[in-house]
Amino acid sequence: MGTVSDMGGLAFAGLIFLSLLATDIQGQEFGDAQLVYEWTSLEFDWPSEKHRNESLGNGTYVPNRNMVAGIKVYKDSVFVTIPRWFWTSGHPVTLAKVVTVRGEEKLSAYPTWAAQIQGDCNALQYVQGMEIDPNTGLMYVIDTGRVGDKLNLCPAKLVVFDLNTNSQHKKYELPTIVASYTSNFMNDIVLDYVGGKARFAYISDANDAHLIVVDLTTGKSWKIQHESMGIESKHAEMVTINNITYTISVALDGLAMSPDFKYLYYCSLAGFNLYQIPTSSLRTGKTDGIRLIGSKVSQSGGIGYGSKFLYYGALGLNAVYYWDSDKDMADQNVGMDKVTLATEKLLVRNDSTMQWPDTFGFDTRGWIWFVSNRLQVFREAKGLPQDGNDAYMRVWKVYVNETGYLYQSARRTEGTSLEQEGNGSESCFSYTLKTFFFHLFAMFIGAVLVIPEMTHS
Ligand SMILES: *[C@@H]1O[C@H](CO)[C@@H](O)[C@H](O)[C@H]1NC(C)=O
Ligand SMILES: *[C@@H]1O[C@H](CO)[C@@H](O)[C@H](O)[C@H]1NC(C)=O
Ligand SMILES: *[C@@H]1O[C@H](CO)[C@@H](O)[C@H](O)[C@H]1NC(C)=O
Ligand SMILES: *[C@@H]1O[C@H](CO)[C@@H](O)[C@H](O)[C@H]1NC(C)=O
Ligand SMILES: *[C@@H]1O[C@H](CO)[C@@H](O)[C@H](O)[C@H]1NC(C)=O
Repeated sequence: MGTVSDMGGLAFAGLIFLSLLATDIQGQEFGDAQLVYEWTSLEFDWPSEKHRNESLGNGTYVPNRNMVAGIKVYKDSVFVTIPRWFWTSGHPVTLAKVVTVRGEEKLSAYPTWAAQIQGDCNALQYVQGMEIDPNTGLMYVIDTGRVGDKLNLCPAKLVVFDLNTNSQHKKYELPTIVASYTSNFMNDIVLDYVGGKARFAYISDANDAHLIVVDLTTGKSWKIQHESMGIESKHAEMVTINNITYTISVALDGLAMSPDFKYLYYCSLAGFNLYQIPTSSLRTGKTDGIRLIGSKVSQSGGIGYGSKFLYYGALGLNAVYYWDSDKDMADQNVGMDKVTLATEKLLVRNDSTMQWPDTFGFDTRGWIWFVSNRLQVFREAKGLPQDGNDAYMRVWKVYVNETGYLYQSARRTEGTSLEQEGNGSESCFSYTLKTFFFHLFAMFIGAVLVIPEMTHS
């Protein structure tokens, strides 16, 4: 148990949190966007200036090869990935946390510099995607093991870091039959909760065009292949952004898990179609129940489920859209197993500052976060364009008044099991901000009540 001063601290923290939430909720409207960071090029938080100079000198650091792609937020920390793509050298760091050093936002190697060493299979080789479980503070990082799409250095792996201790918690090395040593491109990852615990990880392989399932309890893994995970058509490979057409031949990419953990949603980058597959199939290695939901307004890289809406980048429109599935289910008078995509709503758009909305994350205060990185230009120019001072990478957050699919999933999935499909999760999932406030308030009151009691004893 805590001491008297701990409890005082807790009550105080509760107060601050409450007032922050109140500010967010009073001050923000659905769809309000805030620019959090913008970078023309990335600056790392080097161990020393000497280290930086030497890395520039020996080519292990080439500034214009470094671009952020993945983003997730945990408490007040922002984590990003820096893919080691197109070149076989020049990216000193592939997983980082944003830190402020003397007023400047820098990327700090996460969890350590040693974890970034290219060619060391105990370290990370190439990270595009990761997920953070807000219930536990565990971060699930996918590492392709391959650099620049040609250096096949290490087996693909899923590495779990504990953000509370900044240490490695677990590692799952994937057999080459599941994630090819020479061709995998593990891109995005979501978690599936069973019985109050993160039980499975689902990973998209954008090059070999299949899903990878990792059973986090047994360590076993398998792949799920289906034609819906490939490149949709020649037409779908063409992404037109501000009147310029780019050919982007990337298969299965974005993944979103429904907040009741019944369906995984997915799409190929070279595609307009959005599909669903029941988790009951994924968990048992089947393709049963794969269903086309509908065609999106544009191609998407990342997609992500909140507690209500499914959000997705609309690459050709420099925008983020969302699917209001509740409205479509009501209008069509069907459930999630039959609903089709009809209500696509624009969340935010900006033709200059929101080009290529890449990936999404959620905080617990009602904001969705995303990276816009103009990947289409970076790909063509083979690096960050050296044409002046415009920021090529931006981190945005948009107020959506909801939390991510994992929010309180430990509590919401208590009592579910692999045998007894689904049941029970629906009624649990009517979690609203009102209940959230109530819980916070209860915590706060609890802490206040405990203080006098402990002072007397
Ligand atoms: C946020 O969501 C709650 C519960 O759904 C709703 O009552 C409230 O009006 C919403 N607030 C804003 C600012 O959208
Ligand atoms: C690093 O390089 C810069 C620019 O060349 C130079 O001014 C600085 O003295 C160097 N620092 C060290 C510690 O070598
Ligand atoms: C490049 O320089 C850095 C910093 O001194 C060093 O850690 C790294 O091992 C060097 N790499 C090569 C390939 O020389
Ligand atoms: C794209 O082309 C249309 C029609 O020619 C033009 O009106 C529009 O301004 C162009 N947009 C950009 C961003 O260049
Ligand atoms: C897009 O962002 C720019 C730069 O912040 C701003 O000047 C412009 O008004 C924005 N456009 C729209 C349509 O919001």
